[in-house]
Amino acid sequence: HPIAILISGRGSNMRALIEACARPDYPARIALVLSNRADATGIEVARQAGLPTKIIESKPLGRNRLAHEEQVNAALEEAGVEVVCLAGYMRVLTPFLVGAWKGRMLNIHPSLLPAFPGLDTHERAIEAGMTRHGCTVHLVTDGVDEGPILGQAEVPVHPDDTPHGLAARVLEEEHRLYPATLATFLLNRAISAR
Ligand code: GRF
Repeated sequence: HPIAILISGRGSNMRALIEACARPDYPARIALVLSNRADATGIEVARQAGLPTKIIESKPLGRNRLAHEEQVNAALEEAGVEVVCLAGYMRVLTPFLVGAWKGRMLNIHPSLLPAFPGLDTHERAIEAGMTRHGCTVHLVTDGVDEGPILGQAEVPVHPDDTPHGLAARVLEEEHRLYPATLATFLLNRAISAR
Protein backbone atom coordinates (compact mmCIF):
# COMPACT_ATOMS: atom_id res chain seq x y z
CA HIS A 1 0.00 0.00 0.00
CA PRO A 2 1.58 3.31 -1.09
CA ILE A 3 1.20 5.94 1.63
CA ALA A 4 2.03 9.61 2.05
CA ILE A 5 3.15 11.21 5.29
CA LEU A 6 2.29 14.86 5.82
CA ILE A 7 4.41 16.80 8.30
CA SER A 8 5.05 20.35 9.45
CA GLY A 9 7.93 19.95 11.88
CA ARG A 10 10.22 17.55 13.63
CA GLY A 11 8.74 14.42 12.12
CA SER A 12 9.44 11.88 14.84
CA ASN A 13 6.23 10.01 14.05
CA MET A 14 7.22 10.09 10.40
CA ARG A 15 10.52 8.53 11.39
CA ALA A 16 8.69 5.75 13.24
CA LEU A 17 6.63 5.08 10.12
CA ILE A 18 9.75 5.12 7.93
CA GLU A 19 11.36 2.53 10.20
CA ALA A 20 8.25 0.35 10.12
CA CYS A 21 8.03 0.55 6.32
CA ALA A 22 11.63 -0.62 6.10
CA ARG A 23 10.61 -3.98 7.57
CA PRO A 24 9.99 -6.52 4.81
CA ASP A 25 6.71 -7.74 6.30
CA TYR A 26 5.19 -4.27 6.80
CA PRO A 27 2.15 -3.63 4.54
CA ALA A 28 2.99 -0.03 3.52
CA ARG A 29 5.61 1.73 1.48
CA ILE A 30 6.20 5.46 1.51
CA ALA A 31 5.36 7.08 -1.82
CA LEU A 32 5.74 10.65 -0.61
CA VAL A 33 6.69 12.76 2.40
CA LEU A 34 5.12 16.18 2.09
CA SER A 35 5.65 19.26 4.24
CA ASN A 36 3.79 22.56 4.21
CA ARG A 37 6.86 24.21 5.73
CA ALA A 38 10.28 24.47 4.10
CA ASP A 39 11.92 24.58 7.55
CA ALA A 40 10.39 21.31 8.80
CA THR A 41 13.36 19.38 10.15
CA GLY A 42 11.63 16.11 9.32
CA ILE A 43 11.94 16.73 5.60
CA GLU A 44 15.73 16.40 5.82
CA VAL A 45 15.33 13.11 7.68
CA ALA A 46 13.09 11.82 4.88
CA ARG A 47 15.54 12.98 2.21
CA GLN A 48 18.38 11.23 3.93
CA ALA A 49 16.30 8.08 4.05
CA GLY A 50 16.13 8.36 0.25
CA LEU A 51 12.38 8.98 0.15
CA PRO A 52 10.53 11.18 -2.34
CA THR A 53 9.80 14.50 -0.64
CA LYS A 54 7.88 17.58 -1.58
CA ILE A 55 7.45 20.98 0.04
CA ILE A 56 4.28 22.85 -0.74
CA GLU A 57 4.41 25.95 1.39
CA SER A 58 1.16 27.13 2.84
CA LYS A 59 2.37 30.51 4.02
CA PRO A 60 2.62 32.29 0.64
CA LEU A 61 -1.01 31.37 -0.04
CA GLY A 62 -2.11 33.06 3.16
CA ARG A 63 -5.73 32.37 3.89
CA ASN A 64 -6.38 30.61 0.63
CA ARG A 65 -6.49 27.16 2.17
CA LEU A 66 -8.26 25.64 -0.81
CA ALA A 67 -5.52 26.71 -3.24
CA HIS A 68 -2.93 25.06 -1.00
CA GLU A 69 -4.95 21.88 -0.60
CA GLU A 70 -5.45 21.61 -4.35
CA GLN A 71 -1.69 21.54 -4.80
CA VAL A 72 -1.30 19.02 -1.99
CA ASN A 73 -4.02 16.82 -3.45
CA ALA A 74 -2.44 16.93 -6.91
CA ALA A 75 0.91 15.87 -5.41
CA LEU A 76 -0.74 12.97 -3.56
CA GLU A 77 -2.50 11.79 -6.69
CA GLU A 78 0.61 12.13 -8.80
CA ALA A 79 2.53 9.98 -6.32
CA GLY A 80 -0.13 7.25 -6.54
CA VAL A 81 -0.93 7.45 -2.85
CA GLU A 82 -3.60 5.19 -1.38
CA VAL A 83 -3.61 6.28 2.26
CA VAL A 84 -2.50 9.57 3.83
CA CYS A 85 -0.94 9.76 7.29
CA LEU A 86 -0.92 13.12 9.02
CA ALA A 87 2.00 13.24 11.44
CA GLY A 88 2.30 16.59 13.14
CA TYR A 89 0.75 18.30 10.12
CA MET A 90 -0.29 21.59 11.66
CA ARG A 91 -3.03 22.63 9.26
CA VAL A 92 -6.76 22.52 9.80
CA LEU A 93 -8.11 20.88 6.66
CA THR A 94 -11.09 22.06 4.64
CA PRO A 95 -13.88 19.72 3.53
CA PHE A 96 -12.15 19.58 0.12
CA LEU A 97 -9.10 17.57 1.23
CA VAL A 98 -11.01 15.68 3.92
CA GLY A 99 -13.62 14.66 1.31
CA ALA A 100 -11.01 13.67 -1.26
CA TRP A 101 -9.44 11.23 1.24
CA LYS A 102 -12.50 10.16 3.18
CA GLY A 103 -11.81 6.92 5.02
CA ARG A 104 -8.20 6.98 3.76
CA MET A 105 -6.63 9.70 5.90
CA LEU A 106 -5.27 9.01 9.39
CA ASN A 107 -4.05 11.37 12.08
CA ILE A 108 -2.21 10.93 15.36
CA HIS A 109 -3.28 13.09 18.25
CA PRO A 110 -1.54 13.34 21.63
CA SER A 111 -4.48 12.65 23.93
CA LEU A 112 -7.02 9.97 24.67
CA LEU A 113 -9.72 11.35 22.40
CA PRO A 114 -12.47 12.44 22.79
CA ALA A 115 -10.67 14.07 25.73
CA PHE A 116 -8.50 17.08 24.88
CA PRO A 117 -8.85 17.73 21.17
CA GLY A 118 -6.78 20.66 19.89
CA LEU A 119 -3.47 22.01 21.16
CA ASP A 120 -1.52 21.89 24.45
CA THR A 121 -3.01 18.54 25.37
CA HIS A 122 -0.35 17.55 27.92
CA GLU A 123 -0.60 20.79 29.84
CA ARG A 124 -4.38 20.56 29.86
CA ALA A 125 -4.37 16.91 30.99
CA ILE A 126 -2.12 17.81 33.94
CA GLU A 127 -4.23 20.84 34.82
CA ALA A 128 -7.37 18.74 34.74
CA GLY A 129 -5.80 16.33 37.23
CA MET A 130 -5.95 13.34 34.89
CA THR A 131 -4.19 10.20 36.10
CA ARG A 132 -4.17 8.62 32.61
CA HIS A 133 -3.24 10.27 29.33
CA GLY A 134 -2.07 9.01 25.97
CA CYS A 135 -2.48 9.18 22.23
CA THR A 136 -5.01 8.31 19.56
CA VAL A 137 -4.86 7.37 15.89
CA HIS A 138 -8.11 8.26 14.16
CA LEU A 139 -9.63 8.74 10.74
CA VAL A 140 -9.79 12.37 9.67
CA THR A 141 -13.23 13.91 9.31
CA ASP A 142 -14.38 17.52 9.02
CA GLY A 143 -14.41 18.13 12.77
CA VAL A 144 -10.87 18.61 14.10
CA ASP A 145 -9.70 15.53 16.09
CA GLU A 146 -13.19 14.01 15.85
CA GLY A 147 -13.02 11.08 13.43
CA PRO A 148 -13.55 7.39 14.24
CA ILE A 149 -10.87 6.06 16.58
CA LEU A 150 -8.62 3.33 15.16
CA GLY A 151 -6.24 2.88 18.08
CA GLN A 152 -5.19 4.31 21.43
CA ALA A 153 -2.31 3.91 23.86
CA GLU A 154 -2.31 5.00 27.49
CA VAL A 155 0.37 6.26 29.84
CA PRO A 156 0.14 7.16 33.53
CA VAL A 157 0.32 10.79 34.59
CA HIS A 158 2.65 11.17 37.56
CA PRO A 159 1.88 13.73 40.30
CA ASP A 160 5.06 15.70 39.57
CA ASP A 161 4.76 15.55 35.77
CA THR A 162 5.61 18.57 33.65
CA PRO A 163 3.94 18.97 30.23
CA HIS A 164 7.36 18.32 28.70
CA GLY A 165 7.97 15.09 30.60
CA LEU A 166 4.47 13.84 29.96
CA ALA A 167 4.78 14.69 26.25
CA ALA A 168 7.94 12.59 26.03
CA ARG A 169 6.21 9.61 27.67
CA VAL A 170 3.26 9.92 25.29
CA LEU A 171 5.51 10.38 22.26
CA GLU A 172 7.20 7.04 22.90
CA GLU A 173 3.77 5.43 22.74
CA GLU A 174 2.90 7.40 19.59
CA HIS A 175 5.91 5.89 17.86
CA ARG A 176 4.59 2.40 18.62
CA LEU A 177 0.91 3.12 18.10
CA TYR A 178 1.03 4.79 14.70
CA PRO A 179 2.86 2.05 12.78
CA ALA A 180 0.85 -0.69 14.53
CA THR A 181 -2.51 0.97 13.90
CA LEU A 182 -1.67 1.77 10.28
CA ALA A 183 -0.68 -1.85 9.66
CA THR A 184 -3.97 -3.14 11.07
CA PHE A 185 -5.91 -0.54 9.11
CA LEU A 186 -4.22 -1.53 5.83
CA LEU A 187 -4.71 -5.26 6.43
CA ASN A 188 -8.41 -4.71 7.17
CA ARG A 189 -8.71 -2.61 4.03
CA ALA A 190 -7.14 -5.37 1.97
CA ILE A 191 -9.55 -7.93 3.45
CA SER A 192 -12.66 -5.80 2.86
CA ALA A 193 -11.55 -5.14 -0.74
CA ARG A 194 -11.54 -8.87 -1.51
C1 GRF B 1 2.85 14.61 17.94
O1 GRF B 1 2.69 14.75 19.31
C2 GRF B 1 1.53 14.30 17.29
O2 GRF B 1 0.71 13.52 18.09
C3 GRF B 1 0.94 15.67 17.11
O3 GRF B 1 2.01 16.50 16.78
C4 GRF B 1 3.23 15.94 17.28
C5 GRF B 1 4.14 15.75 16.10
O4 GRF B 1 5.42 15.34 16.47
N1 GRF B 1 -0.11 15.62 16.12
P1 GRF B 1 6.41 14.78 15.37
O5 GRF B 1 6.55 15.87 14.30
O6 GRF B 1 5.84 13.51 14.81
O7 GRF B 1 7.70 14.56 16.08
